[in-house]
Amino acid sequence: MIQVAIMGFGVVGSGVAKIIEENQALLAARLSDEITVKYILDIRDFTGHALAGRVVRDFSVIENDPEVSVVVEAMGGVHPAYDYSLKAIRAKKSVVTSNKELVSLHGRELLEEAKKNGVRYLFEASVGGGIPIIRPLSDCLAANEISSVTGIMNGTTNYILTQMEENGAPFADALSDAQARGFAERDPSADIDGKDTCRKLCILADIAFGYQVNPDLVTCEGIRAISPRDISDAAEAGYCIKLLGHVRRDSEGITPIVAPFLLSRTHILSGVSGVFNGIGVVGNMVGETMFYGHGAGSAPTASAMVGDIIEACEVPSSPVLWKEKAPEGYIKDVSECAFARYLRVKGTRADSLTVLAECAVRAVSNGDETGFFLPAMTDEELAVILKMIPELDVVSSIRIFTPGEFVPKNG
Ligand code: HSE
Repeated sequence: MIQVAIMGFGVVGSGVAKIIEENQALLAARLSDEITVKYILDIRDFTGHALAGRVVRDFSVIENDPEVSVVVEAMGGVHPAYDYSLKAIRAKKSVVTSNKELVSLHGRELLEEAKKNGVRYLFEASVGGGIPIIRPLSDCLAANEISSVTGIMNGTTNYILTQMEENGAPFADALSDAQARGFAERDPSADIDGKDTCRKLCILADIAFGYQVNPDLVTCEGIRAISPRDISDAAEAGYCIKLLGHVRRDSEGITPIVAPFLLSRTHILSGVSGVFNGIGVVGNMVGETMFYGHGAGSAPTASAMVGDIIEACEVPSSPVLWKEKAPEGYIKDVSECAFARYLRVKGTRADSLTVLAECAVRAVSNGDETGFFLPAMTDEELAVILKMIPELDVVSSIRIFTPGEFVPKNG
């Protein structure tokens, strides 16, 4: 009998228990053994719940029970999730998690500790919810030099941007709608400020490129400032707006960024709508690959975690262990890169904006504002142009995602 403990009995933890209960026969066949949830660690009261008798409040009960071989960490946050995961691993238990904040900060260390203790630390559910991406990147694409990873990795913000695009809703209304439907948290800042995407991007970069990437070192912009006008101007020119996590590698290092981008309607990620996620990986042998599916939610996330439980019970190895210290200059500043850009300013083409009109490939005037589609240039080059226009009032400035052009100017 395989005995599992679940830490955190919220949306994800209860989803894991449900799958173990509902798919018992299927899992038993796959594992050649029965599987059961022995403990649930949570401080809340679950009186009346079918599994209430398994709830414990003291982690040491799990830590000291040799019958528990796999611990599911669905607590979220860094502490005490980190401390409990470390103790569980040292007690020779494999740990399975969906906690992207913890994995992006301490994943390397926990993987190393798991290896030392002959157990597994698995985190398929930490990126893309139910979408298989961690194992495909670690194992299935191992024959490739990865050159880039690009994705819509946050369901909440993708839902908000889709609502804004389809209904012309202002950001605040689309956010309230997402909260009412349970897609966005009451405090939605980790999602809408891009931090959640950033953590996920860092985990993928760790695996794809082999060095620890600290989320604090990544340029990260969210979607709070996106307006319906940005979206309608973009649509008129054949673009949608998506919050992308993107990282690419050249011979010296990697350039990561999280930001809202104008994305051509012909790009495959432009079709990823609502709460769905899509992640593209480019390898030098396989070419372009795309992973698509439910990026959040109880059942999809729990599906990935139960997949990890099966993996933990079967194979005694861990995902790629990336190195802790990258060489100097490994993570480059994205400001060295040239981006095409949509820039909307107060005023019309007829007045002092001729400088912009001259370098723009397209301009859209509407009321007292003009949107310019500018060719690829660095932040510094753009600043030189903007300085030439006195009292310029920039309303909106969004990069256009053109993969071929997104290379450091001197690279
Ligand atoms: N808040 C996250 C999202 C949950 O909206 O994608 C899944 O990581």
